Amino acid sequence: MSATYTPIENTPGGKKAAGPVGWLDDRLGLAGVAKKNLRKVFPEHWSFMLGEIALWSFVVLLVSGVFLTFWYQPSMAEVVYDGSYAPMRGLEMSEAYASTLHISFDIRGGLLMRQIHHWAAALFIGAMLAHMLRVFFTGAYRKPRELNWLIGIGLLSLGIIEGFAGYSLPDDLLSGTGLRIAEGMILSVPVVGSYLSFFMFGGEFPGDVIIPRLYMAHILLIPALILGLIAAHMLLLVYHKHTQWPGPGRTEKNVVGYPMFPVYAAKAGGFFFVVFGFTALMGALFQINAVWVYGPYNPAEVTAGSQPDWYMGFAEGLLRLMPNWESTILGWTFSWNVMIPGLGGMAFLFTALGVWPFVERWITGDEREHHLLERPRNAPTRTAFGVAGITWFGLAWIAGGNDIIATQFGLDVYAMIRFLQVAIIVGPILAFVITRRICIGLQRQDRDKVLHGYETGIIERTPDGGYSERHQPLPELDRYTITAHDRAPALEAAGETDENGVAVPASRRARLKARARRFYWEGVVDKPTAEDVEHADEHLGEFDGHPAALGQEFRGVSETGVPKSH
Ligand code: HEM
Repeated sequence: MSATYTPIENTPGGKKAAGPVGWLDDRLGLAGVAKKNLRKVFPEHWSFMLGEIALWSFVVLLVSGVFLTFWYQPSMAEVVYDGSYAPMRGLEMSEAYASTLHISFDIRGGLLMRQIHHWAAALFIGAMLAHMLRVFFTGAYRKPRELNWLIGIGLLSLGIIEGFAGYSLPDDLLSGTGLRIAEGMILSVPVVGSYLSFFMFGGEFPGDVIIPRLYMAHILLIPALILGLIAAHMLLLVYHKHTQWPGPGRTEKNVVGYPMFPVYAAKAGGFFFVVFGFTALMGALFQINAVWVYGPYNPAEVTAGSQPDWYMGFAEGLLRLMPNWESTILGWTFSWNVMIPGLGGMAFLFTALGVWPFVERWITGDEREHHLLERPRNAPTRTAFGVAGITWFGLAWIAGGNDIIATQFGLDVYAMIRFLQVAIIVGPILAFVITRRICIGLQRQDRDKVLHGYETGIIERTPDGGYSERHQPLPELDRYTITAHDRAPALEAAGETDENGVAVPASRRARLKARARRFYWEGVVDKPTAEDVEHADEHLGEFDGHPAALGQEFRGVSETGVPKSH
């Protein structure tokens, strides 16, 4: 059956559109740009959807956020509540809190929109983090994409600040508690902390300007910055082209996938509705940030079990784990207990993320462009650092909920703190060592598969009674895919002694670099050479095929691995 192809301009729709499109093109001259970009090829892999989830949840945030601005009042003026939520009637509260109750109880669809907005924020940051991890673990940030990585770090930090500003707006007891912590962190800045705090809150905490200020940042300043950065992120993505997984036909110079129009546009457009539908379902079915339960903010009160939104949990956890160190020097108080975990923790996280591509490039000395992704196992040290980072973040996050965990599981909260104080140092180191071993183990397994074939599950008995498992060669394409990565470099021992045993005057920098390179490549299992493969093939060549394929009687292997009938 053959379908006849009709160029779009000859279809009835095409003929109708020709006039207006021609009119526009005469004025904007976009046809050339569109032609080029609509044909842009986008490779396919499920993990490339994570960035899209971030993108679409941001769109959901914009749409639902605009709805909320119609009724929300960013004012700290005191009012007496007289809305339809009976338990609060007659209570004094800020206009901000009263308007949030109003949206929740008196505006049709208001609570749904608030909950969609809040769930979308949680998803936005979760998706960004997952997207960042996929970029990290596949080495997609390597040259030429370092700038896009940095833009991503900007987006992640702005997203977190935006979320924090957002959940501070209702001015309820929980959000006020969060702001109090932020104030504590600002106060802990040496020397100028109290001035900064006065500047931000317009005087003593909480003052009466912080909510309008946060509102301006939340609906204008930060979204505009995020939008600008997303635009730059997408432009760079189109300019660099997307990376792809290695495989037959995929090289550093091409991209194999579907064109932007119509396939990818339809998929991405459809995916927007999936994300919107998902957040709408979450908003409809699962309660989030029930501000009427907490009550209006009062600086003298804190609810037991107060928890921030999930993405601030690690910062809270670091604060809870820090010993109570404080010193007074020349009349100035230095609150290390707040400054180190609060400001230091976040600064450490974002600085480590920001500098990593450059540190790695310095260590490996790799100046080439990379458009093919790397399997995490083939960069064991990078993967190990990533898992160590996740462990650190996860333990800090657990510490942020230590009171809830202690009460729910009947644990001693002080014992938990002690344990976590040790675990947050030892845990990442252990995670690093174990992950690197696992990666190297997997590399070894890959090498074995390429050289000795895969395990068929057929157990054979030799005449002298020994058992062994029959191996079958991997299909050629699989072999190609497994081995489509760089060879580990030969490591030179920089400048210790020359051939006469005399110390070579290498610079400290060179020695440090050599040591870092040795550390980076330590234990890496190289892929087999062409000769190795040829040699192994001679062995595997003796193999006469799968018995089932040869028509021999064969009924497989039992659950215990012993042949049932062979
Ligand atoms: C508002 C938040 C963000 C949005 C909307 C976003 C969106 C996207 C999209 C749609 C892609 C292409 C699909 C994909 O590879 O997943 C992409 C690629 C990329 N993103 Fe993001 N992203 C965001 C945040 C981040 C963060 C936090 C990082 C890292 C710190 C990052 C680094 C990158 C890099 C390096 C690429 C190129 C990857 C490649 O070509 O394989 N992005 N981003």
